[in-house]
Formats: sequence, structure tokens, C-alpha cells
Amino acid sequence: MALESVVRLDSVSIKYGPGATREVGYDMGELGAKRVMVVTDPNLVDKGPVKVTLKALEDAGLEPVLYGSTRIEPTDASLKEAIDYAVRGEFDGFVAVGGGSSMDTAKVANLYSTYPADFPTYVNAPIGKGTPVPGPLKPLVCIPTTAGTGSETTGVAVFDLVEMHAKTGIAHRYLRPTIGIVDPNNTRTLPGMIAACTGFDVLAHALESFTAIPYNQRQAPENPLLRSAYQGSNPVSDVWAVRAIEMASSNIVRVVSNPTDEDARSQMIMAATFAGISFGAAGTHLGHGMSYPVSGMVRGFIPEGYPPNHPIIPHGMAVILLAPSVFRFTAPTNPERHLEAARLMGADTVNSRMEDAGNILADAIISLMKETGMPNGLAAVGFTAADVDKLVEGTLPQQRVTRLSPRPFTPEDLRQMFLDSQTCW
Ligand SMILES: [Fe+2]
Repeated sequence: MALESVVRLDSVSIKYGPGATREVGYDMGELGAKRVMVVTDPNLVDKGPVKVTLKALEDAGLEPVLYGSTRIEPTDASLKEAIDYAVRGEFDGFVAVGGGSSMDTAKVANLYSTYPADFPTYVNAPIGKGTPVPGPLKPLVCIPTTAGTGSETTGVAVFDLVEMHAKTGIAHRYLRPTIGIVDPNNTRTLPGMIAACTGFDVLAHALESFTAIPYNQRQAPENPLLRSAYQGSNPVSDVWAVRAIEMASSNIVRVVSNPTDEDARSQMIMAATFAGISFGAAGTHLGHGMSYPVSGMVRGFIPEGYPPNHPIIPHGMAVILLAPSVFRFTAPTNPERHLEAARLMGADTVNSRMEDAGNILADAIISLMKETGMPNGLAAVGFTAADVDKLVEGTLPQQRVTRLSPRPFTPEDLRQMFLDSQTCW
């Protein structure tokens, strides 16, 4: 097997700063768009970030058309609706305002309206056909309103394929937005628990991409077209991951306890973007792969601050509940790197022993979980040991991310990690 020797970092153009949203009209005009599909979700249609976006596009003489039906946690059906809308609308540019769901919906609508195909065509193999995107798409500007997914920086769209009960995605660098507008004004209204969950997603992106299997230990692709978006940890991603770990871990408690802390919110949304750049090239691994069945199998759990009557284990919460046992499992592959991650989170590692690296990193994560009021493990969100087989079964198809694990694993290893995650402390 020939090993990979090349790493590629495609970066989105980023505009950062309070008020940057007001420049979206100028940006779309410069990109040559006239008729623009503005993708958002029903909770945001009449909120400030969407109003500012529509006005900016109109003031620039463009023709924005609002699409407010994005489903939170998109499905193949909700994406097909957005694709139909995009095909009928004959748009020549897209703007997404919202969280990962809106941004990912806009990416997919842009893709299938530009290069029409049956839905499975571009979906990741083995669930879909995994056909590479044929060429560049129309301009897409993403304006995140949560400091979480980092989707404004990545060429990845994630969704539920309902008939297969599978979380999957479409990943290709041509899906990457043209510009990400990172405006701290857009995260002003984030309630504490949502800020905590999205913040832990950021931290997990940075930690997983920093500890993923090194790119040069993976098999080389037959040709450059087949090089996957997720390449493993690499020196270029590391730069972004390191800073994102520091920024997310030193600001998450501040944004949760005081949503009016402007400085902490600004740092957090920037950390989300940095972590997005990092994992967009390196990938995430076990924490993400194992989190999908956890969120998918939710029963009655409703976190504080989330809509009542709608049980949900938010993505960032699922990921962080698993993180301590995942990093204890992966630490022996590269204890130096796991210790370095703990040090970046503020742990004193001066006299630490390499064999303690996993526990030290796990403890650093657990201390932030306690300070932000996270539930204590899978038991606290409704799971028992009897659910573990199903959780393992739901993780096995997640090779899109689990193949980036630095340590090879068996179903029995997954079982043990799920059991260990029943309580975190
Ligand atoms: Fe994530």
C-alpha cells in the first residue's frame, strides 16, 4: 500500500467582525449574483440576522428570495424540497443564514440545482454512490448564527437519510462556501444550554482533528480527484486546531454563564470557524461517529432552554458525553498529542506521565462539562447498558468519520466506550 504524502488545505474566504453581515450585498454583487436564494429556518425568518441580510442584498440592487423552510437536522426529504425550490427559482447565487442545518441545506440545493442528478449520486459511499462533484458551484455565502458547526468553512453537508435510518453526508471541496461571514452580532440571542452544546461541538471538532490518524499513515488515493476531504491530522490543520482548542476551552464557561459577554462570544464564534477549517481538512473521528446513534435514539430527553415537546440530544452534547472515554481509548496511539491538547485546555502537564495522557485530557473535558451544567453521561440522557448493542450497530456505518480514528477498533471496543460513557464522573 502506498502511503499518502500530500495534504491539501482549501480555505474559504472569511470576513470576521461585528456588523460584517451588512456587507453581504456587496459580496454577492462582486461574485456576480443577481437572483439570490436566502436559505434559513423557520425560527430565524423574522429575526435580526435574516432582516439585515435581506436589506443588504436589496440595497445592493440584488433580488433576494427567502426560503425559510430549512429543517433543523435536515433529512433527504427536506433537502429535496430545497433542491426543487432552487431548480424552479433559477438562482445564480445562494446565501445561508443560520446554523449548520441552513448552511448544509444551501450547499446541497446549490449542488443539485447546478449539476442535476438522482439524489444518491453525490451521497457518500457506501450509503450513496459517492460520485465526485463535477465542477465548481454557484457562489454561496454562509452567515452562521450559532458558534458551533463551522459549516461555513467546510465542503461537507450532513443529513439523515430517513429510509436507511442513517446519518450521512455529501463531502467535496466544491461544496465549500465562497465566503463565510463570521459576525459576533449574530450569536447575541443564544440561550446558555445551546451555547454550551454548540461550544462543545467546536471543542470536539478541534480535539478530534488534532488527534485524528496522521494523513501520512493513510493510503494514498489513486489520483488527486479521489483524495478525500477528511485527510487525517496534518501540520496545516494543526495550526487551526491548536488555536481553536485554546479559544473554545477558555471561553465556553464565560458564554454559558453570561450571554452578554461580547468578548467571549466573539472568541467563541471565531473558534468555531477555526475548528471548522481544521476538521474540514483533517476530519473528526470516534466522538462524532459514535454520537450519531446517540442523537438518533433519543427518547424523552429535553435539555433546558430547548423547545418543550421535542426530545433531543443536541449534537454537541452527544459528542462531548462520549469524548472522555474516546480520548482515553485513543491516547495510547499518540500520548504526546493528547497531553498537548490537555495543556492547551489549561491542564498542568509539566510532570505528567505519558500513560496518564488519556485520563488527563478526559479530566480537562469533564471539568468544563461540570462547569457548564452538562448531563453526567449517557445514563443522564436516558440510556442504559441494554442500549449499547444498538448504539454499536448505529456507529458501524459511520466510516466517513470513524476511519479517521488514530486507533483501529472493534465492535467490542465501541461497546466498552459506550459502557464507560454511561457516567462521565
Ligand atoms: Fe460536530
